[in-house]
Amino acid sequence: MSDPQAPATRRLYIRTYGCQMNVYDSERMADVLAPLGYAMTERPEEADLVVLNTCHIREKATEKVYSELGQLKVMKTERVAAGLGMTIAVAGCVAQAEGEEILRRQPAVDLVVGPQAYHQLPELIARTHRARGERLAADFAPEAKFDALGASRSTSGVTAFLTVQEGCDKFCTFCVVPYTRGGEWSRPAEAILAEARSLAARGVREVTLLGQNVNAWSGEGGLGGLARQLVRIEGLDRIRYTTSHPRDMDDDLIAAHAELPQLMPYLHLPVQSGSDRILKAMNRGHTAESYLRLVEKIRAARPDIALSGDFIVGFPGERESDFEATLALVREAGYASAFTFKYSRRPGTPAAAQPGQVDEAVKDERLARLNALIESQQRAFNSAQEGRVLPVLFEKPGRHPGQLSGRSPYLQAVHCEGPAELIGRIAPVRIDSAARMSLSGTLLPEAQPA
Ligand code: SAH
Ligand code: SF4
Ligand code: F3S
Repeated sequence: MSDPQAPATRRLYIRTYGCQMNVYDSERMADVLAPLGYAMTERPEEADLVVLNTCHIREKATEKVYSELGQLKVMKTERVAAGLGMTIAVAGCVAQAEGEEILRRQPAVDLVVGPQAYHQLPELIARTHRARGERLAADFAPEAKFDALGASRSTSGVTAFLTVQEGCDKFCTFCVVPYTRGGEWSRPAEAILAEARSLAARGVREVTLLGQNVNAWSGEGGLGGLARQLVRIEGLDRIRYTTSHPRDMDDDLIAAHAELPQLMPYLHLPVQSGSDRILKAMNRGHTAESYLRLVEKIRAARPDIALSGDFIVGFPGERESDFEATLALVREAGYASAFTFKYSRRPGTPAAAQPGQVDEAVKDERLARLNALIESQQRAFNSAQEGRVLPVLFEKPGRHPGQLSGRSPYLQAVHCEGPAELIGRIAPVRIDSAARMSLSGTLLPEAQPA
């Protein structure tokens, strides 16, 4: 597809919102646009092409897109006045959910492209130079996207994301994802393994498998089987995956955690609420008790696992007693970290129309109480590492000269003094002190490169 006439000086600015799947997709968009001569820039005002990769999950996320577009419009006007152009493309979940509205509300937007149509970007961009208002979305055929994006990857880091599953069939009553990403789809194992091999060959040491319901990956052997194949790839020392649904956490995947040292002891397993009444209204398909028993089973397989989760406070009909059940679940499960959200009413979802919408002030108050509890658990989890020696994968230089920054098996950020040669390598670090968000330590002498 590369155009020999394409000037090598076109600039591309991509702004990514939302989940890790969007981060992955943004990298792939940069990959498909590179052969057209687009090089990345950090400055939108000097971009010939701006892509906003958007998120629809909460109202705030969606509104941010429109304010960002307002600012881009000003830059575009200035560039046009200076005889330069700016093509503005809106991608991602807002593009899928309300593409027409975007084109109507912001005339500066040239094209709108849904999450399954990124491979058509080069063609779309060529076409918009002729006509505005192109909208491409809604076919939900990830095969075509991955086939077209499959070949090359420009990733140069130590860690990488790798999408293995997209979409969701669960229809939690608060959530837009089944509508923006379509139904559950699993990428074939061969394509995943080929991409993992090429990442490893580029020096990637840790891969995070991505999916809206990653453990619903339905290829042969399930996600546990896929992990067993991935750990055989030379150079891939760490495997992670996210996000998991409690309903899809099968015994074989749990067994893989006991069996495979490369499968990192960190699990993001959202529960949303600790109240069975609310879980039922959310259509989660599990109870507080079944979730807690599941966590018990996982800890029996991998006792040191760092548990993470997502919580929503103020779902319609949530009473103080329901919220207290959430606090009780958090106390019993014990989290190393968690993401907490106030319920956000999303147009078109069943919960948005439910009676008993909770007051914003009540949501604020509950969120603060939940956050305080989670923070105390996070500090306790981090402090428990003090004095331990952890294998740290070094990813980049630290903030101060001579410092390195890496990750523990539990996904904690770790800082220590050390030589840059260790970037891309795993070395033992004694943890000296813990803060809420990170650990600092001392590199063990045997880790010093010869
Ligand atoms: N598939 C994942 C979650 C994807 S969305 C899962 O089921 O676990 C990420 C998180 O956003 C959800 O876990 C939920 O906690 C939060 N979320 C989704 N819709 C929301 C809404 N309408 N209001 C507030 N938080 C929401
Ligand atoms: Fe949304 Fe529920 Fe699907 Fe997760 S499982 S993406 S919360 S509908
Ligand atoms: Fe947002 Fe879409 Fe991800 S709504 S969280 S970008 S799947």
